[in-house]
Amino acid sequence: MTQVQEQPRTEVSHFPDGFRWGVATAAYQIEGAATADGRAPSIWDTFARTPGRVHRGHTGDVACDHYHRYGSDVALMRELNIGTYRFSVSWPRVQPDGTGPVNPHGLDFYDRLVDELHTQGVRPMLTLYHWDLPQALEDRGGWTVRDTAERFAEYAEAVHARLGDRVDTWTTLNEPWCSGFLGYASADHAPGRTDAGAAFAAVHHLLLAHGLAAAALRARGAAEISITHILSPVLPRDPAGDLDRAAARLIDGLLNRLFLDPVLRGEYPADMLAVAARFAPIDRLIRAGDEKIIATPIDVLGVNYYQPTHVAAAVGVPAEAKYPGSEGVIFPAHPGPRTDMDWLIDANGLFDLLTRLAADYPGTPLMITENGAAFNDVVHGGRIADRERIGYLAAHLRAGHDAIRAGADLRGYLAWSFMDNFEWAYGYDKRFGLVHVDYATQRRTPKDSALWYRDVIANNSV
Ligand code: FCB
Repeated sequence: MTQVQEQPRTEVSHFPDGFRWGVATAAYQIEGAATADGRAPSIWDTFARTPGRVHRGHTGDVACDHYHRYGSDVALMRELNIGTYRFSVSWPRVQPDGTGPVNPHGLDFYDRLVDELHTQGVRPMLTLYHWDLPQALEDRGGWTVRDTAERFAEYAEAVHARLGDRVDTWTTLNEPWCSGFLGYASADHAPGRTDAGAAFAAVHHLLLAHGLAAAALRARGAAEISITHILSPVLPRDPAGDLDRAAARLIDGLLNRLFLDPVLRGEYPADMLAVAARFAPIDRLIRAGDEKIIATPIDVLGVNYYQPTHVAAAVGVPAEAKYPGSEGVIFPAHPGPRTDMDWLIDANGLFDLLTRLAADYPGTPLMITENGAAFNDVVHGGRIADRERIGYLAAHLRAGHDAIRAGADLRGYLAWSFMDNFEWAYGYDKRFGLVHVDYATQRRTPKDSALWYRDVIANNSV
């Protein structure tokens, strides 16, 4: 592999000894093999098959064919010095009906993967749920019904029974904000419902599922338990204006505090209960003892950061569907460089986020479980010179390093993503990978960013 140099810099940021470096992926985005070995459909198989939901009708049927290519994929991770690999398990592979007996062939795949990771010296970090609910459970109400939370805890136990001897970090959920609000309120994601009441019910049951599974995993001796949230600092257009500040507080509640407070403080924020009560019968939904279960201690908080959120007050505007109750709030386009997702590039947002977490939720070790950028990569003579991605990653790593210096207990950084993959409603159109995937041939080519990241890891510094 060629050497890739970043722009010369004067200051080098060294990370603490033992800092964990790695990459992340998710089952439906990379595995393919949608019907192999007894796997049943998830809500994403159904959603992707529904006309108009996913860019050009793309599906995860084949994706990166990682189900069959995991051996060479893990070998490539090793070549790139990847120390930790965050992957997710497909619930409908393991429990095609979402309940009842496990499908041993589904677990066999993860067994092989975990063994291969250990053979190559890569530490597995397992996420139990990255959005692919068994369709059979959605047919019975999905996350809007309490039963799904209990089924999830059983599924967690089944996976732990098979892999608990070789996996020490267990993440329950990836981004319940997305599952709840994009899935049930705005229909941007599977299962594609547009019902704010259902979305708040889903959020509660997702968090309850996390708590039940965390307790079950703990009882079975899981070494490290975590949950991963998508988080974003919410910035008022006029930091001195009361109305803009109130707008920011509301969106911060819906995006951040609604998910952080119950897990880390043992109770829902009062202002968010008031918003939820407009749409859902929260007294029936939230039962005595639920908040205690949700607050089952975790060992590390997974932080997914992509961009900050800019808001302003605007009297009379209707709510944004993915933020139920957000009437009177707008999301003004903020000037600045953007990625191919049209997401703002602002590494200061990561610094603000990490230092805020350290201040508001002290004593919780943090891990960046996703951060990265989609760009319109071009392959030129077998090389992908993705300088913009290197710039994005370098800036965010420095922001993480600054946050450590400012007192945040940041333990690791996992880039999103190891390789290009099925980017949900955007299909294969958006490329987040450090490794380029040619979907016609399944050929993997490390982009310049992958080679740069390999050297960052080797030097433990940026
Ligand atoms: C996150 C998801 C991940 C990926 C990135 C770009 O919200 O967890 O699967 O799609 O965004």
